[in-house]
Amino acid sequence: MKTRITELLGIKHPIMLAGMNWVTEPKLVAAVSNAGGLGILATAHLTPEETRRQIREIRELTDKPFGINQALFLPTSSRNVEIAIEEKVPIVNYSYGKPWFVEQVHEYGGKVIGTIVVARHAVRAEQLGCDAISITGHESAGHGGDVTSLVLIPIVANKVRIPLLAAGGFYDGRGLASALVLGADGISMGTRFIMTKESNIHPHWKQLILNATEGDTLYSNRFDGEPGRVLKTKGAEDMMRSLGFPIVKGVTGALHVKQMLGLSWRELLAAAFTREITEYGSYGPQNIFQQLRMAGGTIGQEKAIFNGDEKLGFMFSGQCVGGVNDIPSVSEVMERIVTQAEKVLEAAGKKYTRG
Ligand SMILES: Cc1cc2nc3c(=O)[nH]c(=O)nc-3n(C[C@H](O)[C@H](O)[C@H](O)COP(=O)(O)O)c2cc1C
Repeated sequence: MKTRITELLGIKHPIMLAGMNWVTEPKLVAAVSNAGGLGILATAHLTPEETRRQIREIRELTDKPFGINQALFLPTSSRNVEIAIEEKVPIVNYSYGKPWFVEQVHEYGGKVIGTIVVARHAVRAEQLGCDAISITGHESAGHGGDVTSLVLIPIVANKVRIPLLAAGGFYDGRGLASALVLGADGISMGTRFIMTKESNIHPHWKQLILNATEGDTLYSNRFDGEPGRVLKTKGAEDMMRSLGFPIVKGVTGALHVKQMLGLSWRELLAAAFTREITEYGSYGPQNIFQQLRMAGGTIGQEKAIFNGDEKLGFMFSGQCVGGVNDIPSVSEVMERIVTQAEKVLEAAGKKYTRG
C-alpha cells in the first residue's frame, strides 16, 4: 500500500507505532519497523545517555527507518533531540512545544513529524517546516484533545498540504481505510500495539484490556494533569472520585522524576514552573499543580505497565480497547490491517451505484 506517508518515510505500510513512554522500547520499535511500519521510541522518560543507548540498540535490531518521540517541555528534551540528531535518527516526532531543530534534521535527510490535537497547531507545524503531522483525536489513549478523529482529520486535511497520520481510535483495516478516505495518509496506533506479543506491558493488564468494552475508559486531567484517557479500573475511578489535591503523590513523583531523568534541584524547580507555548503544540502543563500531577502520574503508569497494579497504577488506553480482542505478533497486526484496508476500500467502491 503506497501513500504519501510511505513515500516520505521510506516504509512499506502506512502505519506508525505511536510513541509511548516505558512501552515503545527498542524491541517493539524494531518489530514495527521490521514489519514494514515506522517504529517510534518514546524518549521523554529517558536520560540523554539512555536515549543514545536505546537508539543504538534499535540499530542493532533493524536496518529499517525508525524515529524518536520527544515531548519538548522537559529539561532533558533538548539534549535528547540533539542526541537523535547526532545519531542521525531518520524521524524526529515531537509534541508540546516549538520544533527548533527542523533545519538540523533536514540537513542529514531526516524528517520531522509534529503531533497536534487542534487544527491551528497543524498549520503552525507546516509553517515551521515539518514534513508530516500526526493528528490525535479524542478517542485516543493518553492526551487526545476535545475533538474526535472523524471531525478533526478532514478539517486539518483542508488546511495543510503536508502528509497526515491519523491517531486515536485506529486498530483495524477499516480504520486505516477510513483515515485515508478522511484525508490522512496513514495511521498511528498505540492501544493496538500494546496488545501484541512483543509489547512489554504486564500480562494482567493485557487481560484487563481483553475484557474491556469501548465504554471502559475514563477521560480526565486527574491522572497526570493533562486531559487524557485511561483504562477504567478501580484505581482510575478512585482518582476521579478523590477530593483535594494529591500533594504527597505529586511530591513523591517529582522526586522520582528527578532521579529518573538525572536532574539537578535547579532543573527540577525550573521544570515545575515551565509554561507551555500554546502557539506551537498541544496544550501542555501550564501550572505547578498540573506538573505535580504529571510527576505523580509517572509512578502510577510504571506501576501499571511493569507490575500490572490496577489499584495504584493507571494506564493510558484508547476507546478502541473494545475492538482489540487478541494478542497477535506485530507482523500479524500489520498484515491483517493492510489486507483488510485494501479489501474494504475495493468493496466500498462497489457498494453504491452512481446515479
Ligand atoms: C500505554 C500507552 C502509553 C502512552 N504513552 C504516551 C506517552 O508517553 N507520550 C505520548 O505522547 N503519548 C502516549 N500515548 C498515546 C499514544 O502516543 C497515541 O497518541 C495513542 O495511543 C493513539 O490512540 P490509540 O491508542 O487509539 O491508538 C500512550 C498510549 C498508550 C496506549
